Amino acid sequence: MSYNLHNRSLLDLIDFAPRDIRYLIDLAAELKRAKAAGNEHQRLKGKNIALIFEKASTRTRCAFEVAVHDQGGHVTYLDSAGSQLGHKESLKDTARVLGRMFDGIEYRGFHQTVVQDIARFSHVPVWNGLTDEAHPTQVLADLLTMEEFGERPLHELSFCYLGDARFNMGCSLLVGGTQMGMDVRICSPAELAPPAELVTWMRELAKTTGARITLETDSLKAVAGADFLYTDVWVSMGEGDAVWKERIAQLMPYQVNHALMQATGKPRTRFMHCLPAFHNLDTEVGREVHEKYGLTEIEVTDEVFESDASVVFTQAENRLHTIKAVLVATLS
Ligand code: CP
Ligand code: NVA
Repeated sequence: MSYNLHNRSLLDLIDFAPRDIRYLIDLAAELKRAKAAGNEHQRLKGKNIALIFEKASTRTRCAFEVAVHDQGGHVTYLDSAGSQLGHKESLKDTARVLGRMFDGIEYRGFHQTVVQDIARFSHVPVWNGLTDEAHPTQVLADLLTMEEFGERPLHELSFCYLGDARFNMGCSLLVGGTQMGMDVRICSPAELAPPAELVTWMRELAKTTGARITLETDSLKAVAGADFLYTDVWVSMGEGDAVWKERIAQLMPYQVNHALMQATGKPRTRFMHCLPAFHNLDTEVGREVHEKYGLTEIEVTDEVFESDASVVFTQAENRLHTIKAVLVATLS
């Protein structure tokens, strides 16, 4: 396979053309097979990668670290607590320093403008590991997962994202699904719908990719015929705990439960979640929400999360293969 994404940053999926995304998904599948077969060829030897995390992470950090290690490169992890970042040194200065030492930089933080500035000032490829507005590497993993389980090309598959659709996951799934020509349903209360300008832009793009975009407030209508139901936490990193009360009231009708899975009318609809998920009382946040609001499960029921329909751990594994594809394509 030969294709040139060399030196490109991945700040938002919209920066990449549908054929670029297709290439990355195919490369990820190829790298996944090579790792399983034990014949992975190392293409990041001698490469140094900086990982900046201003928000917590399990999957994204581990996927970057393991991907770089598998490919023969080296990572350095930086967060706000153990570096000058933000306290004594601006991100603009940090970006200029890191750009002199590293071959590429991953950044997870708050605003999209920050990851854009890091790319602008570091002059090396920068990969968005999650901002408030976008989570592009997650959606690459999601597209690979949908293709694996959907058993049909992406443009013949439908998914319904339910929940807070104005934040990173809702927006990036809308973008990724539109680029791949999918049947994209976004289901939320009107006040948590994706930004109107993004929807207009994606509707325009859909004319060329063949995507069908539906914004719906009624969850039973939205999920009819969907191959995948996808949800995310109702309160994202960086939002205050005070938001829970209002969010529960807004999003309870959008909880993914057995009845909603049944409402697709399809026996093989799969459940997806970017994780972490609140599906029982095994987390601190889950217990706090339980104490205050009486819920034992939040955006998804434990029954659905643990069911055979759930593909969430393959999604999590696919973070590794897709992030590796992004690194190999942009650096080697
Ligand atoms: N899905 C995801 O980005 O997980 P982490 O927050 O653990 O990285
Ligand atoms: N919307 C979530 C996604 C976590 C992967 C958050 O930003 O916290």
